[in-house]
Amino acid sequence: MEKLTYTHDAAAAAVIASVYPDAPPMAYVHSFGCQQNVNDGEKIRGVLQDVGFGLTDTLEQADLILFNTCAVREHAEQRVFGNVGALKQLKEKNPKLVIGVCGCMAQQPHIVEKLRRSYPYVDLVFGVDGIDRLPAMLAERFRRGKRYLEEPRARNAVVEDLPIRRDSGFRAWLPIMYGCDNFCTYCIVPYVRGRERSREPADILAEFRGLVAAGYKEITLLGQNVNSYGKGLAAPIDFADLLNLLCAVPGDYQIRFMTSHPKDASRKLIDTIAAQAHLCKHIHLPVQSGSDRLLKQMNRRYTAAQYRELIDYARAKIPGVTFSSDIIVGFPGETEEDFQATLDLVESVGYMQLFTFIYSKREGTPAAKMDDPTPRAEKTARMERLLAVQEKYSHAAVAALVGQTVRVLVEAAGRTPGTVNGRLDNNLVVEFPADESLIGQWAQVKLTAARAAMLVGTLA
Ligand code: 5AD
Ligand code: SF4
Repeated sequence: MEKLTYTHDAAAAAVIASVYPDAPPMAYVHSFGCQQNVNDGEKIRGVLQDVGFGLTDTLEQADLILFNTCAVREHAEQRVFGNVGALKQLKEKNPKLVIGVCGCMAQQPHIVEKLRRSYPYVDLVFGVDGIDRLPAMLAERFRRGKRYLEEPRARNAVVEDLPIRRDSGFRAWLPIMYGCDNFCTYCIVPYVRGRERSREPADILAEFRGLVAAGYKEITLLGQNVNSYGKGLAAPIDFADLLNLLCAVPGDYQIRFMTSHPKDASRKLIDTIAAQAHLCKHIHLPVQSGSDRLLKQMNRRYTAAQYRELIDYARAKIPGVTFSSDIIVGFPGETEEDFQATLDLVESVGYMQLFTFIYSKREGTPAAKMDDPTPRAEKTARMERLLAVQEKYSHAAVAALVGQTVRVLVEAAGRTPGTVNGRLDNNLVVEFPADESLIGQWAQVKLTAARAAMLVGTLA
């Protein structure tokens, strides 16, 4: 693994300035997909500002439009193609407009080929590792006067000191590692995000300290599999050690993290969550399926019983802990019996939140070659059954909280005028009447009623 440090590219900035002599160019950047991608988008904005771009949220005002894409399911890819297609008219009106596609989709050769052939008005294409080189690529695009499409390549680097323009002043994403080595058979991520590589603890700690000093209240540690943090670093350190290191920083903040792979979630990690007041007592622990046969086919490397043991251990150690999970419905060859095992597991664990996905075939993954005879209608019907089981539990669990007074982080204006939304430790959202000046602050809220998966309250 290679560690690189971002440096300002004055030559590229000069080229960009010469293309826009009258006023600074404006960039529109939109990120699809997971938090890791959102954080990449924040860095893309930071880098663009570093070389002279202003930022805009309006497509029509943009000189550069960049889509930072997700490849995890077909639906995500279709949305990007739809969005890119809609730009054709803008480009006809403004031939100087630069349109770029980057991120996970652009890390796949067949997607780059499709953009090359069918989207001639797309000027700039690069994969997940190009953010630090974006100024140089833009300069190259301008020097050439024609499109610049990069062939996907794996760089296996960690780049530190990228400028960043964060979306929020009180909630921050902090990647602790990149890539994934798990190769779950359905998943494209190891192919697009490359091999697992951890950031140095000192670099993470420095960024973390900076966030706390800047007043950030919630810091979410990111990694495709945070539980394998530290593998390959010179000094021995694991994820629980890292959490302890960060929690020693004094301040008024809470820490979340995602995603945890159950095969690597250790008892040491659970004990750490129990012991550290800064850590939210909520664990996102994607199980994907309750069928041992399918878990094996998915290459998840745990059984439903092992997963349940982990949940039981956490419940015994962390009073009030809640869980959320991801489930894939309709994995190739999923039988009614397999699906029933998933329903049983979901029912017996009791998740606060469940993120459910119908299996999406990803070219190049092992599962794409598996027989998938289950009709789409059957998969949809299973999904509905799963949601019904989940709602029955979660609505009751949410309703059971009514009467408590809890601390929340106020995140945004509520749907009802005059209200705001706050997030509980367990990731649930409560709407309560309060002034918007409270956004970004802690509040004590008495929970007065439940509306399906959401809570209603009053300031305590
Ligand atoms: N099809 C459907 N869902 C998928 N996920 C990952 N790959 C696929 C796929 N090919 C889901 C998993 C993962 C979440 C981020 O997305 O549940 O945990
Ligand atoms: Fe999507 Fe996965 Fe890439 Fe995140 S890492 S943007 S979920 S494909």
